[in-house]
Amino acid sequence: MSDKLVHTADHRGRTVVGYMSEGSRFRLDRLIVDYQINSVIEVGTFVGMSACFFAERVNQVVCVDTFDAVGSATFNPVGVHVIADQYRTFLANTLAYPNIRHIVLPSLVAAALPGLVADMVYIDADHTYEATVADIVAWRPHARKLMTGDDNGDRRFGVSEAIASLGIVDSGERIWWQSLS
Ligand SMILES: C[S@@+](CC[C@H](N)C(=O)[O-])C[C@H]1O[C@@H](n2cnc3c(N)ncnc32)[C@H](O)[C@@H]1O
Repeated sequence: MSDKLVHTADHRGRTVVGYMSEGSRFRLDRLIVDYQINSVIEVGTFVGMSACFFAERVNQVVCVDTFDAVGSATFNPVGVHVIADQYRTFLANTLAYPNIRHIVLPSLVAAALPGLVADMVYIDADHTYEATVADIVAWRPHARKLMTGDDNGDRRFGVSEAIASLGIVDSGERIWWQSLS
């Protein structure tokens, strides 16, 4: 896979570190346009790279994260400095985006909250098989048009097996998606 592990992008004056390749940005751009996505719930936000990306394209973004990536399956030594200050870094990175809200809770606890609905849900949290299945099942009722997520095809994780077990067609790309319409 040619994708780098960690990426950087400029978002309203800040250089934001995160996990979003050019290929992923391209695919998500296409999905947002094709499905006329106006709101996104993002499960797994890290320090806000994908949140900023979505907030520049849709009206409303809700980010769900425990902001404790040290304990997550996606911990990466390259991000050690950022992870040590994950929540404050997220707040600083997203300050210029009034259309970003966030919820500091584990995914499945947040999914049980009432009233959270968006055109699209983007799953990018705990990438084990069990957690990915649980996240997709828990968050699918919150999506009006589209379920999406990251890390398909990455053999370090269980994402590909999880989406296959739920009958989601393999996109052949790092971004997976399922139309709900
Ligand atoms: C791969 S990172 C997200 C990358 C981000 N979307 C980006 O573009 O940079 C995964 C994030 O999921 C969070 N996470 C892992 N398991 C979680 C859970 N069960 N509930 C909420 N957040 C979780 C971690 O804290 C981490 O910030």
